[in-house]
Amino acid sequence: MEYTPLDGKVAIITGGASGIGASTVHLFHEHGAKVVIADVQDILGQEIADKLGKNVSYIHCDVTNEDDICNLIDTTVAKHGQLDIMYNNAGIIDCPSPLGRILDTKKSDLERIISVNLVGSFLGAKHAARVMVPQRKGCILFTTSAATAIAGISSHAYAASKWAIVGVAKGLAAELGQYGIRVNCVSPFAVLGTGISAARSEADVSKAEFALSNHVGNLKGQILKAEDVARAALYLASDEANYISGLNLLVDGGYSVVNPNMVNILSANMG
Ligand SMILES: NC(=O)c1ccc[n+]([C@@H]2O[C@H](COP(=O)([O-])OP(=O)(O)OC[C@H]3O[C@@H](n4cnc5c(N)ncnc54)[C@H](O)[C@@H]3O)[C@@H](O)[C@H]2O)c1
Repeated sequence: MEYTPLDGKVAIITGGASGIGASTVHLFHEHGAKVVIADVQDILGQEIADKLGKNVSYIHCDVTNEDDICNLIDTTVAKHGQLDIMYNNAGIIDCPSPLGRILDTKKSDLERIISVNLVGSFLGAKHAARVMVPQRKGCILFTTSAATAIAGISSHAYAASKWAIVGVAKGLAAELGQYGIRVNCVSPFAVLGTGISAARSEADVSKAEFALSNHVGNLKGQILKAEDVARAALYLASDEANYISGLNLLVDGGYSVVNPNMVNILSANMG
């Protein structure tokens, strides 16, 4: 029998035109949901909607613009009559460098990242709650980052934006639980090939893959893919997670709980 845990559910996925968001659009659609892609990349977003057919549509939405978010939520509800899953996934990392040091970070860099990652997610959750509270059910998800569990792997601006989302998510889980609304985060380690972490050439990609799987990642022999993150989101969005709320689900192969430096250095010196 076909496994369709999202049958009859209506989902919005922000940042659904590429990377983790696009993978999640495909997976949610495959598992029975009606999906609305919200993004600023109109051509890519519309292409996915056209390819997947009538249960998937595209709406232009800049998540930093509250009018766009209102329009996204209201158009979705007018079309489908309900909103079950709001996945606030859109995000950027555009500091001068992904590991931008504080002295190199301009106030405008910090404000831009906070505006898309935090304010965009906050507005998405706020207007989803406007619809979900009277429904007395719903699921709000956010893509955060392994940078919410371990320091030093991102710019300060990016880490601040993602930690703040976890704070909002936990607060929302507390506030909205009384209405049967679950709120959770998915926090990935580095995913190659997405807009955010894409390397410049094929050679760079294979070098980065080799480094991630053999040296950096904790789980050897595997590389985290966008689909792996999408599967975590599918679980949290489905009724299989119907008593899970306030969770920051790390999809990092154990990276954030391990510091191998001491063991590596001791074993290298002790033979
Ligand atoms: N790729 C990784 O290694 C990684 C790791 C941890 C967390 N994340 C998070 O995953 C999420 C998805 O990132 P990705 O890696 O798939 O990158 P991506 O660039 O492929 O996808 C991000 C999407 O967000 C959209 N977007 C950007 N600004 C927007 C705005 N103002 N309004 C609406 N849409 C906007 C982009 O057009 C794009 O389609 C982000 O929140 C990111 O921070 C990514």
